[in-house]
Amino acid sequence: MRKFLIAGNWKMNLNASDGADLANDVVSFVGKQTSVNVCICPPFTSMEAVAKSVEGSNVLLGAQNMHPEASGAYTGEISAVMLRHLFCSHVILGHSERREYFKESDAFINEKVKTALNSNLKPILCVGETLEQRESGQTSEIVRTQIQGGLSGILGSQADGLVIAYEPVWAIGTGKTATPEMAQEVHAEIRSLLGSQINEEVANRTRILYGGSMKAENAMELLAQEDIDGGLIGGASLKGNSFNAIIEAAIELSA
Ligand code: 13P
Repeated sequence: MRKFLIAGNWKMNLNASDGADLANDVVSFVGKQTSVNVCICPPFTSMEAVAKSVEGSNVLLGAQNMHPEASGAYTGEISAVMLRHLFCSHVILGHSERREYFKESDAFINEKVKTALNSNLKPILCVGETLEQRESGQTSEIVRTQIQGGLSGILGSQADGLVIAYEPVWAIGTGKTATPEMAQEVHAEIRSLLGSQINEEVANRTRILYGGSMKAENAMELLAQEDIDGGLIGGASLKGNSFNAIIEAAIELSA
């Protein structure tokens, strides 16, 4: 059985002190329960404060991006080594906002995925189609290209911590959610791609999260789908009560 992973992507929101307060809220809600994994991904400026809040708790720390090189002349960038130093366990890679606004290619994302896996960081590789691509029937092809490109050259023995997030771009921050059936269909396709590209064992054990306007009201029916193993939550992760309600749905489904 795959354990649910509920991850909050705060994007470019909250300063260090508000971030620590929110992290404290999540830490006290999660308490000692271990049936669901919970991870929060603050902006870099809040990372250290949030690291202190989650220290010794069951809440994990993730980053929203990183550079593939370990160090060097890359102004404005952050490396895997720096993230590990703050006890970061996860890193979101290839988010659609990075693909769109910062022109990140599958090849560049693939370098980052490899570095993360080699640095003991679990990559959350994001894939997903735009509205135009969905309407023109290209969803499967886009997702296949992003999975094949993002995971190129990765062997089963290296894919231990790998996490995938399916985030249809048209559902991000729009209030429009993929129906559970629509999401399940793509999740199943992704799992089968993992099987053909890496191996069946990796396909069965890799968690595939759904992202795109997930909130307390729709979390239960999305998480109930066979191939949906958690959520990557933006807007609803910025308030303790709405994020904790999604965690609660996952806990209920795990019981
Ligand atoms: P929303 O939950 O705000 O739609 O954002 C989803 C997302 O992009 C998470 O990475």
